Amino acid sequence: MSTITIIGAGNMATAIGGRAARSGHTVEIMSRNQAHAQAAADQIGNGAVVGTYGAIPAGDIVVLAVLHQGAVDVVTHFSEALAGKILVDITNPFNADGTGIVTSEGSSVSQQIAAAAPAGTPVVKAFNTIFRDVLAEATPLDVLFAGGSPEARARFAEFVTSLGMRPLDTGGPEGTYVLEWAAILLMGLARNGAGWNVALGANIH
Ligand SMILES: NC(=O)c1ccc[n+]([C@@H]2O[C@H](COP(=O)([O-])OP(=O)(O)OC[C@H]3O[C@@H](n4cnc5c(N)ncnc54)[C@H](OP(=O)(O)O)[C@@H]3O)[C@@H](O)[C@H]2O)c1
Repeated sequence: MSTITIIGAGNMATAIGGRAARSGHTVEIMSRNQAHAQAAADQIGNGAVVGTYGAIPAGDIVVLAVLHQGAVDVVTHFSEALAGKILVDITNPFNADGTGIVTSEGSSVSQQIAAAAPAGTPVVKAFNTIFRDVLAEATPLDVLFAGGSPEARARFAEFVTSLGMRPLDTGGPEGTYVLEWAAILLMGLARNGAGWNVALGANIH
């Protein structure tokens, strides 16, 4: 088991952090608001700790659990402290009513983050096709992901497996834009009969 760092202290931070902590990982929470970080760590429990916002994260995998509008600013703030890490972008850059996305091909949030991160820092897009309440349950799920390097995706897949979920590698950085649209597919499913207790996955025969 390893240490994983989560930047952000909201719903997804506690869902991913809770799952990771229950799976035996040490979870470090970093937030611009120290009180929010402490509250999230307390909710996660199982030895979760609070780190210093802007310092070098303890984990080799760093989940950016913030809103898409702030993701690049957060990465810019941490700057070289993120060198050597695998960044996990979970953001959904939805438009105002959640019927489309505000990014464009070649400039997904993940690709914007990669441009702002220290040179060579892999950015993997993941967890954005699973609603938080579904993720928080201890059920097996598919985790569609894309981006970064093959080595980073292999390390990330190992982490996902350790959480009791199935990693589904959809390819390199160009796939991050596809995953941002995939979350609109999830929203459409939820709104048109499937309900909100739903996550995307694949049947592999
Ligand atoms: N909720 C879901 O079901 C779901 C599913 C898939 C993906 N996502 C994505 O996951 C991300 C987090 O969602 P959430 O539901 O956890 O949201 P949330 O509960 O609102 O939490 C957002 C967190 O981001 C922090 N934050 C926002 N802007 C920031 C900035 N400019 N700089 C630093 N920190 C900032 C907030 O800090 P403060 O505590 O200081 O406000 C808060 O800790 C979003 O990008 C969302 O699209 C959500």
